[in-house]
Amino acid sequence: MDISTTYMGLALESPVIVGSCGLTDAVEKLKRIEDAGAGAAVLKSIFEEEIAYEYNDIIKDVSLTTGYNLEQFDYLDVQLRGKKLFAYLDLIKKAKAGVSMPVIASVNCVYSHEWSSFATQIAEAGADALELNMFFVPADFERERSELETLYFQIVEKLLKTITIPVSLKISHYFSNLGQMIRRLSETGISGIVLFNRFFSPDIDTDRLEVKPSFIFSSPSDLAISLRWMAIMSQRVNCDLAASTGVHDAQGVIKQILAGAQAVQMVSTLYKNKIPYLKTVDRDIQNWMETHGFKTLGDFRGKLSQAEADNPAVYDRLQFMKYYA
Ligand SMILES: Cc1cc2nc3c(=O)[nH]c(=O)nc-3n(C[C@H](O)[C@H](O)[C@H](O)COP(=O)(O)O)c2cc1C
Repeated sequence: MDISTTYMGLALESPVIVGSCGLTDAVEKLKRIEDAGAGAAVLKSIFEEEIAYEYNDIIKDVSLTTGYNLEQFDYLDVQLRGKKLFAYLDLIKKAKAGVSMPVIASVNCVYSHEWSSFATQIAEAGADALELNMFFVPADFERERSELETLYFQIVEKLLKTITIPVSLKISHYFSNLGQMIRRLSETGISGIVLFNRFFSPDIDTDRLEVKPSFIFSSPSDLAISLRWMAIMSQRVNCDLAASTGVHDAQGVIKQILAGAQAVQMVSTLYKNKIPYLKTVDRDIQNWMETHGFKTLGDFRGKLSQAEADNPAVYDRLQFMKYYA
């Protein structure tokens, strides 16, 4: 059984990509990921906010001891950014020298002006593609919805002018007209969209009366949202779609490909079951294909997408009508 696929024009030996996380932040880890049979890996993101926070801390120290000095801040800014970015570029170069699977760099992007020069360096360091993890909280009461959405297009336009490696967007499902937004983004010239990112969420501790972090890892039931949207969008877009969130086993991968995914990202399940579990996932996909008489992923990709399913309306249904009745 052939489980190879292409994603953003890259050849992958397996549809399973290890998503951006702490498991992909060092070349030794990437080698283990490749040995276990992953098709590609998305490096741990470099966070624009992270740089900003560190910068603010230093600024606080400097301003306490020496008072404000704009020139000094400019210097610090360049130094600090330089250090973080250098370490990231070094990771990309080492990864490319150490593994032969595609290596996708990842940037957590907040403001459009920041990343175009860095993106060039990412491409020059040898990254096979760049995934942009973009999100603006839709609870900004000062800005119009359309203003927030425009930012996505501005960032993409700028990046596509800057670099020639494939670019993908990892987006959330918090858009007022999600289907239209996914389609419009797919028409910008990007090569892939990842449906969907999973965010850190707050929870409330009722004993201590404190806000605390909620579960960090997903559960298999979290697959439902990306599965629905994969099925609805897979034949309506102009770029590849990869699934993310709640894919915990071969069944999850197969469902997403049946819905139309070109590739699938996994994270939480690999923290739980460890990297060698990827071998089990690849083997289980092949066994399932053999049972069902499929020789390649293309033989069944999209068979249960909304465009091809016998009962397409099921993907539009939201209410538990039958159960309420
Ligand atoms: C510990 C941890 C760290 C993560 N770090 C990043 C990151 O740096 N950049 C990013 O885009 N996503 C990050 N994610 C999100 C994952 O890439 C993925 O989208 C999310 O966990 C949903 O997939 P899953 O259900 O397979 O876990 C992280 C997730 C976890 C659990």
